[in-house]
Amino acid sequence: MTNDDLEIKRGLKDIYIDTTKSSYIDGKNGRLFYRGYDINQLANNSTFEETSYLLMHGELPNERELEKFDSELKSARKLPDKVIEIIRNVQSSHPMDVLRTSISALSAFDVDVNDNSREANLRKGIRLTAQSPAIVAAHDRIRRGENVIPPDENLSHASNFLYTLTGEIPDKEDGKLLDKDFLLHAEHGLNASSFGARITASTQSDLHSAVTTGVGILKGPSHGGAAESVMKMAMDIGEPDNTEEYIKNLLNNRGRVMGFGHRVYKSVDPRAIHLRDDAKKLGERKNQTKWYSILESIAELMVPYAKKGICQNVDFFSGAIYYLMGISEDLYTSIFTMGRIPGWTAQVMEQFEKNILIRPRLLYDGLLDIDYVPIKKRS
Ligand code: ACO
Repeated sequence: MTNDDLEIKRGLKDIYIDTTKSSYIDGKNGRLFYRGYDINQLANNSTFEETSYLLMHGELPNERELEKFDSELKSARKLPDKVIEIIRNVQSSHPMDVLRTSISALSAFDVDVNDNSREANLRKGIRLTAQSPAIVAAHDRIRRGENVIPPDENLSHASNFLYTLTGEIPDKEDGKLLDKDFLLHAEHGLNASSFGARITASTQSDLHSAVTTGVGILKGPSHGGAAESVMKMAMDIGEPDNTEEYIKNLLNNRGRVMGFGHRVYKSVDPRAIHLRDDAKKLGERKNQTKWYSILESIAELMVPYAKKGICQNVDFFSGAIYYLMGISEDLYTSIFTMGRIPGWTAQVMEQFEKNILIRPRLLYDGLLDIDYVPIKKRS
């Protein structure tokens, strides 16, 4: 076979590597399903805890099962002291770097670390889901010179995160909104970070290693880092009246409008629709409507790009929501990560169930048989 016979699919666009039951994206019609359930039904009726159970177990829990799952999550919220110590030592790094380092470090304290059975992965998935918000909150407080706040068992996963971050019991509506945001970020097909997590699992490594891989990949602005970039863009714009000039300049210079475009969705991401309405209401509730107005004016300017399949994605409004909740900009990608742990867990378990080493190939297009010249004879 010659090189000419090989077809290269750069970026693995539209390549299917296996089957899944975790989620389905209908990119043409802007629909998303977790385990067969439409994301709109889940966003309107479920909670992050219940949806995490659905993703990890494959079906919705009954009351007793959800109670048990929730209590397992709650009892896993506290971090080992030695991990808090590591966080102190790396506190000046970006929160995503701290999260990646701390998740990796947690493996040293997890009794199930090398057990790849389904039961052990469920236990580890629950622990990592509960521990990730604890890492992010502890780090943010430590770097602000504040004490680390112990978890509150009376609060939901999302409200407890806000409480341990700010030290104040959050407004019920803020807790509910963050719960929905976590749910909307929980799982999403073979996105780059889930692919990375699966590659790690395919070598028969372990869940902590796979999730650590996922965090490293999610950090990039082409993936989870976009929420932070959207809010930076909104701040650079400053006032709704400046939007047109800013966006035209950006596009004329072949820049990318952050929070727009997606490899799979060629119409509006259904998650963005939920967050758009929520960002609007939150801005009104907090008497800060300017940010939504800026985002809305960007969206209006981008309408002609919808024809090319460049539409709003999940990250377009999420940054504004976190900003209005008073969360530091550099925590936005970590919040996305916290939501995604159940999805990574579900996919890693799927990978282990019918494992095959993921090992594609690169087509070599360099020279061959070059003579080795000793260093002293090289010019
Ligand atoms: N703004 C302006 N133009 C865009 C944008 C954008 N946000 N996204 C894509 N395009 C254009 C590209 O310039 C390119 O145009 P060209 O064909 O004239 O060169 C065309 O659309 C195709 O772009 P690709 O990068 O090839 O498309 P791909 O599917 O690889 O990109 C991606 C997807 C990386 C998400 C891209 O849309 C992007 O960079 N968006 C901005 C960052 C962002 O919001 N990322 C979050 C994604 S969602 C998530 O990960 C949770």
